Amino acid sequence: MEPAASPPLPGPAFAALLDAHPQRQAVLALFTSLHRHHAASAGHSVRVGQALLAMAMEDPSYLGDPSTAFVAGLLHDVGKLLVPPGTLDSPASLDKAGRDLIRAHPAAGATILAEAGFPPLIVEVALGHHERWQGGGYPAGLPATGQPRLSRAVAVADALVAMVEPGRPYRRPLARDAALAELRACAGLQFDPAATSILLAAAARADNPLAPLFDT
Ligand SMILES: [Fe+2]
Ligand SMILES: [Fe+2]
Repeated sequence: MEPAASPPLPGPAFAALLDAHPQRQAVLALFTSLHRHHAASAGHSVRVGQALLAMAMEDPSYLGDPSTAFVAGLLHDVGKLLVPPGTLDSPASLDKAGRDLIRAHPAAGATILAEAGFPPLIVEVALGHHERWQGGGYPAGLPATGQPRLSRAVAVADALVAMVEPGRPYRRPLARDAALAELRACAGLQFDPAATSILLAAAARADNPLAPLFDT
């Protein structure tokens, strides 16, 4: 059954990508749940999906199937279903218990996706999207060289979106050029250098699914 009141996707190209996915119904059900739980997290997830689609168009050999890349973006933060909205809205002033809840969202997301029958790659993306290229991320803290390429791509796309998107009560969005400079500075340290190059190349194109990110 089609879930009621699905949140809007950015356009027909994105709906077509979702239609092409073999687990379309499960994707929509989880994404709709996330939207009801915390609309800002759902909006963020759509933007990460847009960024991943732009990367997949820029370098299909690195990103793989565009439908999978878009869905990985839509669902990377689905573990935030287990984090109270009040905690999601104030991470700058959280106590240790709140920070622990936030840091648990990758494992929570992986569990939700595995139980829903998603393939291992989508589960690994949810679990690994806060790992860092040289280590020191979470939950494992190990170098992200051991992560799938798509997980490393989500990590850098997620960071760009988080820097430029509106609606974060604890800080103002960065301007486009400042955010891209930050990615460049962190390539090879926090982010996979190859994935970062792909995202920067995609961002340099005026006509790609990433462009609306910078219009907000
Ligand atoms: Fe996340
Ligand atoms: Fe995210």
